Amino acid sequence: MFNIVIKVVRKIKKCRETKRRNLSNPVMLYALCVSKNKHVAKIGNALRSVINNDFTNEEIELFNKLELFRKEKIQSKQLVQIEDFGAGNSESKRTVEEMNKGKIAHISIGYLASSPSSRPVYARALYKILSAFDFKNCIEMGTCIGVSAAYQCFALQSNKESRLITIEGSPNLCEVSRSHLTSLGLNNFDIKTGRFSDVLPSLLDELKTVDYVFINGHHDEKATYDYFIQLLPYLSDLSVLIFDDVNWSSGMVRAWRKIQRHDVFTAVIDVQKFGIGVIDKAATFRPFCEVINITIEKSCLKKS
Ligand SMILES: C[S@@+](CC[C@H](N)C(=O)[O-])C[C@H]1O[C@@H](n2cnc3c(N)ncnc32)[C@H](O)[C@@H]1O
Repeated sequence: MFNIVIKVVRKIKKCRETKRRNLSNPVMLYALCVSKNKHVAKIGNALRSVINNDFTNEEIELFNKLELFRKEKIQSKQLVQIEDFGAGNSESKRTVEEMNKGKIAHISIGYLASSPSSRPVYARALYKILSAFDFKNCIEMGTCIGVSAAYQCFALQSNKESRLITIEGSPNLCEVSRSHLTSLGLNNFDIKTGRFSDVLPSLLDELKTVDYVFINGHHDEKATYDYFIQLLPYLSDLSVLIFDDVNWSSGMVRAWRKIQRHDVFTAVIDVQKFGIGVIDKAATFRPFCEVINITIEKSCLKKS
């Protein structure tokens, strides 16, 4: 009962916040798009095209193909045994030991394609942001069945040297996502199996520098902050970090507040679900003193 009340209160708060951000969006977006820092402006333009549904015919064709792919997977009742090393749900209070040990669960592909996979509007945002840059070493933390990985891999296709290395703790999900990405004709990805804490150190040492990281798993306050600190020495002079579900739980809100204050960032944009940090080590000034708050959701009730 208590959990239901918390969920309802959260939903009401989110609706209010979405409405408030929808009102201030034009001003905030304009500020981003005309930013004197061209990389920050690129992010603004990427978000603006998602909000305005302003895509090229090729992009529309690609997004339709990827959403058709998702739709097919949503129909699937096939069960996958997963080892979940994450934080559980937003009310769970899993201990570090429990998260390390992992929880075995049997979940259908259909559920995985809808609930934990990035919704179309956010997947398109990832695509547009990545397309705006020429990043080579890109990491995703949390593959699941490969929905967001597919969007990001397509965005990276224009550069033959670019790769998405996506990390997933559950071996069966690695198998599933590998077959999904291959079936979509993609080959610019590597899937690393294991806990983030086990895989990340050697991966970072191997890559030496990282241009882009999408952190979309293990939504635990301390773990999220620790991954951020771990990534810092490896970030290239121009890089983008995207933290998913920054408002998912009170712990994630606290982690995001702490992260966004770090002076490594040239600009920080809060898209309600995502937190985006832009790092431009060549920048001589920060275009905004504050976090820019916008929303790319038209309504908090409609799933897009
Ligand atoms: C929200 S889902 C990822 C969704 C995917 N990025 C998408 O949008 O299509 C998070 C994934 O991270 C994995 N995960 C969570 N905590 C992890 C950890 N500590 N180490 C490795 N994988 C983890 C889970 O198994 C799950 O598949």
